[in-house]
Amino acid sequence: MDVLVVDHPLAKARLSTMRDARTDSANFRAALHELTMMLIYEAMRDAPVTSERIHTPVARTDGYRLANPPLLVPVLRAGLGMADEAQKLVPDARMGFVGLARDEETLQPTPYMVSLPDSLADQPVFVLDPMLATGGSMEYTIRLLTERGATDVTAICTLAAPEGVEQLRGSGLPVRVVTASVDERLNDSGFIVPGLGDAGDRQYGAV
Ligand code: PRP
Repeated sequence: MDVLVVDHPLAKARLSTMRDARTDSANFRAALHELTMMLIYEAMRDAPVTSERIHTPVARTDGYRLANPPLLVPVLRAGLGMADEAQKLVPDARMGFVGLARDEETLQPTPYMVSLPDSLADQPVFVLDPMLATGGSMEYTIRLLTERGATDVTAICTLAAPEGVEQLRGSGLPVRVVTASVDERLNDSGFIVPGLGDAGDRQYGAV
């Protein structure tokens, strides 16, 4: 399984803002938006394009557009903060939604919403979630996608734990991971260390 760590200095700076406990919700969301753009940009580097002849005001040349824009799937709540920015970069992309809450005791994901196209054959999918911790939420989401025929899934996560990466690798699911950092470990509560806390709470407040 491929893991692409986007360690560009601009990405590191946004991630540092998100990690800093002093960063308020508004600035956390702003940094997440900007970092999402960078991760999507890198994730699409090898995306196939179609070409057509276009006219500039001066001459004719080749123009390009995406051959097959990905379906964007934010995992609620925390992935919502990545959705609009991803769609800004890929305006033709459709969007599906998966709502999962992780049980604080068992760390198991519990679904409360699934809104996805019935068929995902020949459809690349980008799952958007700031955190890959145990990997349970991402694995659950990818299984929803592969049940619908998806064979080309990219997990866009601002931050990942080695445990979550290994979970996905062991699952054998057709996924690659694009992240700004693979951190040190998970703690006993299932939080990424050093991490950034709870990405949902930091964006939207604890509910
Ligand atoms: C967080 C995070 C991921 C999940 C990661 O969501 O946004 O979805 O936990 O953990 P895992 O890899 O161990 O499954 P949470 O359940 O806190 O919900 P929220 O997005 O509504 O805050």
